[in-house]
Amino acid sequence: MKNLITNLLPAILSATALLSDNTTLSAQQVTIPIVTQNNAIVLQTDRENRLRTVYFGEPLSKAEEYAVISTQYRFDEGGDGIYNSAYTPAGTWSLSEPAIQVTQANGNPSLELKYVSHKEQKLDDNCILTSIVLKDPVSLFQVTLFYKAWKKENVIEQWTELQNGGKTTVSMQKYASANLWFPGKGFYLTSFHGRWAKEMQGSEQLLTPGIKTIDSKLGTRAMLLQSPNFILSFNQPAEEESGTVILGQLAWSGNFRLDFDVNVYGHLRLIVGINPYASEYMLPAGEMFLTPSLIYTVSRKGTGEASRNLHDWARTYRVLDGQGERLTLLNNWEATYFDFDETKLTTLFKDAKSLGVDLFLLDDGWFANKYPRNHDRAGLGDWQENVKKLPHGIGYLVSEAKKAGVKFGIWIEPEMVNPKSELYEKHPDWVIRQPERPEVYYRNQLVLDLSNPEVQNFVFGVVDSLFIKNPELAFIKWDCNAVIYNAGSAYLNKKGIPQSHLYVDYIKGIYSVLEKLRAKYPKVPMMLCSGGGGRGDYEILKYFTEFWPSDDTDPLERIFLQWDYSYFFPSIVSCNHVTDWGKQPIKFRVDVASMGKLGFDIVFSALSENDRKFCQEAVGNYNGYKDIIWKGDQYRLVNPHDNDMASMMYVSKDKARAVMFSFFVSNRQRLTTDVEPILLKGLDPAKKYKVEETNRYPGTRPMPNSGKVYSGDFLMKIGINAKVNTGNTSSVMLIEAI
Ligand code: DGJ
Repeated sequence: MKNLITNLLPAILSATALLSDNTTLSAQQVTIPIVTQNNAIVLQTDRENRLRTVYFGEPLSKAEEYAVISTQYRFDEGGDGIYNSAYTPAGTWSLSEPAIQVTQANGNPSLELKYVSHKEQKLDDNCILTSIVLKDPVSLFQVTLFYKAWKKENVIEQWTELQNGGKTTVSMQKYASANLWFPGKGFYLTSFHGRWAKEMQGSEQLLTPGIKTIDSKLGTRAMLLQSPNFILSFNQPAEEESGTVILGQLAWSGNFRLDFDVNVYGHLRLIVGINPYASEYMLPAGEMFLTPSLIYTVSRKGTGEASRNLHDWARTYRVLDGQGERLTLLNNWEATYFDFDETKLTTLFKDAKSLGVDLFLLDDGWFANKYPRNHDRAGLGDWQENVKKLPHGIGYLVSEAKKAGVKFGIWIEPEMVNPKSELYEKHPDWVIRQPERPEVYYRNQLVLDLSNPEVQNFVFGVVDSLFIKNPELAFIKWDCNAVIYNAGSAYLNKKGIPQSHLYVDYIKGIYSVLEKLRAKYPKVPMMLCSGGGGRGDYEILKYFTEFWPSDDTDPLERIFLQWDYSYFFPSIVSCNHVTDWGKQPIKFRVDVASMGKLGFDIVFSALSENDRKFCQEAVGNYNGYKDIIWKGDQYRLVNPHDNDMASMMYVSKDKARAVMFSFFVSNRQRLTTDVEPILLKGLDPAKKYKVEETNRYPGTRPMPNSGKVYSGDFLMKIGINAKVNTGNTSSVMLIEAI
């Protein structure tokens, strides 16, 4: 269907005619509401024709009243007091933290942005794209603000296009994606920090006057230490079932910066974008720069509803094959590490088949000959099969796996190189480094220079040739284990491009490789991994079907990690593997891993007979309810951060089926986790549901509730006792309408 393009300017101008003379509005004032089901952002020009945000709150029932909201405020006109600019320029009237800061070729650092025009494009019944053009009358630098609003999910994607309309190159010191303003007082920010195997650790604080910055300067694995995901709660700490909250994320896989700026009135500004750190970007005359997107959803009913909306949006509009199927798998990483050969692997294929999973995933260690990849100190970059370990090549493994009845997938880390590799010897200029300084390694490796198109072709070629040689290859795990130290590019030097482009051009480079790969291989499932959970955002997830949240697979830790990731990501993208980490019994480990895309990374044949039997049955059970986990609505029932237990529930969209997971998360004795029932959510009160325990360990007694029938009304008002305690640490209940 052809897109409907409406220029709203005349309509808005007539709306302003309604205003009385004592308003502060000018005759030319333009009002631009961006409205979803539960939220409205209102932008408006002021007397100087600058664009301001005048409202962020519940939609008004009379659209014409958006134009008069600002008459009820006395916005400070002083340059130190204008906080609500919709995109704050630097060097002229505003002295607050800018969204954009540029310098002209003649050294002039001033920028002014005046409203020029806007348009609204109805992309479909649920989605409207509003774009607003602002321009500097002096330098002709142009900024277009984009707001893509999905009504039903209350999701907004906001980005900016920067265009140099002048005659000489402009240098951009800061170029944010979005500059929001929230009226009100008392904002609580939950940000997430971490490190390897301890990713996504949330902490909440009341924002106080001044700027709170969350940023990354790691280059790659950008969300390892700080995360571009945040929860913003209005007036109170974030609650699951009540209150106004925003769940947001900068969809960018490189350095990011989120500035939360509380002013003297208690209002909050949020400026989000690529981290300006060491990233001054030159924009030649006539050229355009596209920022990454800020994605956020607003809920007036707490984080539970916000997450469900974001999950729906991600599955429908963003994640590659978000509504499709996923492959369960057996991975050999923790079963063998680098120590394997064809015999070991073909035995594991049989394990995979006997376990009942769809695919076998061969991890790190299969490649390199001059410097064999027998440990993580050598071989990275040399993507030929190691002839000692795999004399018959990958093709043989693919066909042996097929004979065993499972698909075959493979691990790669194509952006990286060990100094001990043929690639490094041949192409030292492809490596990010400062040649006159000692090299600094992260996991004994360096990062390839993806700003260089030759390197981009190389990375594309690594994947492409695997598929060309092995058309039946069914899965890729794409790892990325190092950060960028000594940020220096031989390529940029050669081309006369400033070094300060490297962080940005690296990420653009990786996106362009992925774009090309997806054009050729649109569907093959690919798991994004980054030495655990260092990467995972809604830009790179356009190319990946799933991601690896952490190398920490201790199931107890994992409950917390998965809980916190679930604010932002639907379970279908979360790869959860059963491993030997932690002390919990196999049932606990499998139950935890089942709350996402289930995989195993164990020596299955070495398990006891009962453990094997349990796993086989659990995979079968999972196949029966995985559609609810992947595509249903998720309810976080009992928060492990505040309780000695955790409980999570998934409900099918038609409310006919649900699955509830409960876990004991403490070591302390005599706790009371099985004293009270847990209230279920998302069911139909009028329906009757049969509760049935699943994933029962062989030889154990069924849960008392198993086989009982209750009304949805009862389950949501009284609940059921999940009976988890020191003796019975996890339970999985199927709840099906009868
Ligand atoms: C880091 C990943 O997170 C692991 O799962 C594994 O693939 C190793 N890299 C392999 O080197």
